[in-house]
Amino acid sequence: MGHLITLAVAQLDQWALDFEGNFERILESLKIAKEKGATFRVGPELEICGYGCNDHFLESDTYLHSWEILAKIMKSDEAQNILVDIGMPVVHKDVKYNCRVFFYNKKILLIRPKLHLANDGNYREARWFTPWTKYRTLEEHYLPRMIREITEQTTVPFGDGVIATNDTVIGTELCEELFTPNSPHISMSLDGVEIFTNSSCSHHELRKLNKRLDLIKGATQKCGGVYLYANQQGCDGERLYYDGSSLIAINGDVIAQGSQFSLNDVEVITSTIDIEDVRSYRGGSHSRCVQAANSPSYPRCYVDFCLSSDGPITSYYNLKPNKPIEVNIHSAEEEISLGPACWLWDYLRRSKSGGFFLPLSGGIDSCSTALIVYSMCNLVVEAAKNNNLQVIKDARTIIGEPDSDYIPTDPREFSNRIFHTCYMRTENSGEETRTRAKDLADKIGSYHLDVCIDTIVSAFLSLFLMITGKTPKFKVFGGSFTENQALQNIQARIRMVLAYMLAQLLLWCRGKPGSLLVLGSSNVDECLRGYLTKYDCSSADINPIGGISKKDLRGFIKFMEKRYNMPLLNSFLDAPPTAELEPITENHIQKDEVDMGMTYDELSTFGRKRKIEKCGPYSMFTKLVQEMGDRLKPTEIAAKVKRFFFYYSINRHKQTVITPALHCESYSPDDNRFDLRPFLYNSRWTWQFRKIDETAALIEKQKEE
Ligand SMILES: *[C@@H]1O[C@H](CO)[C@@H](O)[C@H](O)[C@H]1NC(C)=O
Ligand SMILES: *[C@@H]1O[C@H](CO)[C@@H](O)[C@H](O)[C@H]1NC(C)=O
Repeated sequence: MGHLITLAVAQLDQWALDFEGNFERILESLKIAKEKGATFRVGPELEICGYGCNDHFLESDTYLHSWEILAKIMKSDEAQNILVDIGMPVVHKDVKYNCRVFFYNKKILLIRPKLHLANDGNYREARWFTPWTKYRTLEEHYLPRMIREITEQTTVPFGDGVIATNDTVIGTELCEELFTPNSPHISMSLDGVEIFTNSSCSHHELRKLNKRLDLIKGATQKCGGVYLYANQQGCDGERLYYDGSSLIAINGDVIAQGSQFSLNDVEVITSTIDIEDVRSYRGGSHSRCVQAANSPSYPRCYVDFCLSSDGPITSYYNLKPNKPIEVNIHSAEEEISLGPACWLWDYLRRSKSGGFFLPLSGGIDSCSTALIVYSMCNLVVEAAKNNNLQVIKDARTIIGEPDSDYIPTDPREFSNRIFHTCYMRTENSGEETRTRAKDLADKIGSYHLDVCIDTIVSAFLSLFLMITGKTPKFKVFGGSFTENQALQNIQARIRMVLAYMLAQLLLWCRGKPGSLLVLGSSNVDECLRGYLTKYDCSSADINPIGGISKKDLRGFIKFMEKRYNMPLLNSFLDAPPTAELEPITENHIQKDEVDMGMTYDELSTFGRKRKIEKCGPYSMFTKLVQEMGDRLKPTEIAAKVKRFFFYYSINRHKQTVITPALHCESYSPDDNRFDLRPFLYNSRWTWQFRKIDETAALIEKQKEE
């Protein structure tokens, strides 16, 4: 008697509204699942239309096309004789739900709406969907006519039910539901559900994979059972990187893991499990049995099908249960080298651009962006070596030779075709940054330019003189603060204009079609403080490091130095960060941290407190007194907090036009999706700052007494 079951989890690079592409990837995953002998296949959340449809979920077209694609899938050969759990949005009685559709051989068994919606951070599911709150209840759902023709069903069960096959019971938990304190898998497990599916769209956040793994291992450790976690992979159409890492776990052990960072469009992980292991694991706990005997039951939707094969084990599959594996977790530095690189690749190929253009300043930030592109080139070469035909096809299209037999074999060579860097110097630039930029470009193979923009700066100044009869001066030469700022800003903004011109025309100069995407390099801390010129090189098409702190970027550069043996990177780490927009004189060298009035480490602390711990000025002050009170006087801490909030609030307007950045930290100030706040503040914060000052004075007085 076989109680062995082979289960498949599909990890797909779906894309919002790309119905055709999504369909092909789903079909491919079904094909692979069946080839591997699976009898059940589960895929990521909303896989038919793509998770990132956002406000397109308000359009009826999205629902119509989802049904159309489901119809095509149900009719396909690939979808026969396998139980399928697929994600799409469904309107039930005029209410929109985020659903799983279970079907087997052209019959829909159950439509399971999501019970708890993801509605914080980057997620706004409640804007489009309603959670299903009739727990353990099913209703009749009337199918659209095109589906009735295939299934010969008029209505199907809709609601919080589970699937009963001849040999086991399957229940669903949708993404966010796992994170809620009272997860459905607990009561389902008590009711005899043995296999849980969790279809998800979870994005990459630095150092977060552990948390997800712990939840999943924990779920099956406590309750027993098999957990199938299916996650999307890729950029979708968003500023998030969905990071796969699909999992299969049984009784607290992980037995299969999908890649977290890869360029695969379709990945299917399968495991063979012995369902008896779940029963004996559960049977071993008396207290569980008592709870289970007393637990309310879920409505079951029965399907006349066995997941396990009954007869003699066929010679095709030498079936054995999978053994526990060691889960693969990357260091944060390695995550930075991989996540943003995968995101860039997806964006590049989907935007049909010919490559990237990056202004290279010789500093940490643009160096990090350049290294991420280089890391991407390495991933592409590796994928091509593994004969990833999609990657090879995409590479040919990107370099403008779709019909050639080009195969990327050398990261530097590939980089030279698609990656363009430029050092744009002025009279205030130093020789060291210029050399560093050139050496880095040389090392990573980018097509590098080195230009002087002084003539353009002086053209602007002459024009200004003609209009106004005045010439502004730098502070070191006796100019005012305003003059000093204006002179810096004009240099910075000219770079942006030039960057776009080069991005548009460089491929043309090289005899190639297409144009380049401009990459930005401002990091999360500078954005928060507003330490950047609006519409300078921080304005670009996309920014791979806009969600990463300076501290992490330094760690990343160190990592790359070792990983690719690039000693020259140490010179980037050793140099003090500087904008190089002011003249260097005997007793003045511009330094970022001096300009900002705070260190990068302090900024990172302020950023986390503001966003993650949800601190206004006053509570940030009181928390910092607790944390730094042994080193700094309350009035000193007060001064720092007030300085931060002052700069943050006068510069908040810059966040409204911040370049779309990959979001992989939880304290990003991105005003467009993640951090919704006003952009015109009363930057004097009179009430708040007075309260801080009073409290600081009070604490100091108490200390003295
Ligand atoms: C499903 O997985 C997600 C992780 O992406 C987790 O947050 C969620 O809690 C899981 N759902 C359930 C019901 O366990
Ligand atoms: C499922 O069980 C029923 C009742 O015992 C039996 O008639 C049917 O053949 C079984 N189906 C499969 C696919 O094993």
